[in-house]
Amino acid sequence: MLRNGSAPLSGELISRELDVSRVAVWKQIKALKELGYAIESTPRGYVLNEESDHLFSWEFPDSKNNYQAYRELDSTMDKAREEAVKGCDPYTTILAETQRKGRGRGERSWISGSGGLYFTLVLKPRLPLAYHYVYTLGASAALSEAARELYGADLSTKWPNDVLWGDRKIAGFLTEMQVSGDSISWLTLGAGINVNNDPRLESGTSLEKIMGRKLDRKDLLECFVNKFRSLMEKDSPAEIRSLWEKRSAMIGSEASFEKSDGQIIRGVVRSVDQAGSLLVEKDSKLKQVLFGDLYKKNRGE
Ligand code: BTN
Repeated sequence: MLRNGSAPLSGELISRELDVSRVAVWKQIKALKELGYAIESTPRGYVLNEESDHLFSWEFPDSKNNYQAYRELDSTMDKAREEAVKGCDPYTTILAETQRKGRGRGERSWISGSGGLYFTLVLKPRLPLAYHYVYTLGASAALSEAARELYGADLSTKWPNDVLWGDRKIAGFLTEMQVSGDSISWLTLGAGINVNNDPRLESGTSLEKIMGRKLDRKDLLECFVNKFRSLMEKDSPAEIRSLWEKRSAMIGSEASFEKSDGQIIRGVVRSVDQAGSLLVEKDSKLKQVLFGDLYKKNRGE
């Protein structure tokens, strides 16, 4: 209840909602504070200090996924890599409240202030190396599905590894892996999701801003990981691509791409092919965009 709202909650309201005595509420609040939850008692009721809120590993007792939660790390990617090398279970999830050196795609940094979700999943892919792209497509699709289910929010996937609300970024995914021949020994999938944090970028927004209230990050994390896991366990790249395409706002619309060599490709986005490339139609011919950034969406041009 405290995580789902910004206003103070009185002991009376909590006791009514949960059908327990005021004394029981007081005792449990005291116990939660002792465990480390940043609950403040104000004249108008209890408030959770969002800045110091912390997801603890014990909050996921029934999960098949092994959660490890930290207050701060340089990057969850580094910790996940260490765990992967040590041979941890697949779907081990490394979470940090804040990161000192959060990494983004293309050697960019990822601002990781409190209130966001920053985590990395350790995966042991069965699919061969050529299909490594399905992990970011699958993650983008799973997050869009989770936000739709939990909040009714219409998020869209953006090639190759983002999730947007309108044209503002909500989340980005990053993968690192160790390869042996054409198989992947381990793959780490990092996720940065703007939940209750301020993304501090003109091009970004947060789920809190969209919904107009603070959101429970634990619900979102669990819902996302469960959806992602059931999608990936089907081992079906075609199904992942089709779910990604269903949630994409780009399919059928005109867009420009800046390739890493600076070349701009403009055309109508048609689909994602078996290599994870975007197929863009120009002058009735399909062009393959292998990598690069979406440069500009042309509205009404
Ligand atoms: C991007 O859009 O450029 C990808 C951003 C990925 C950020 C996440 S936050 C958790 C994990 N740890 C990192 O250092 N990066 C990823």
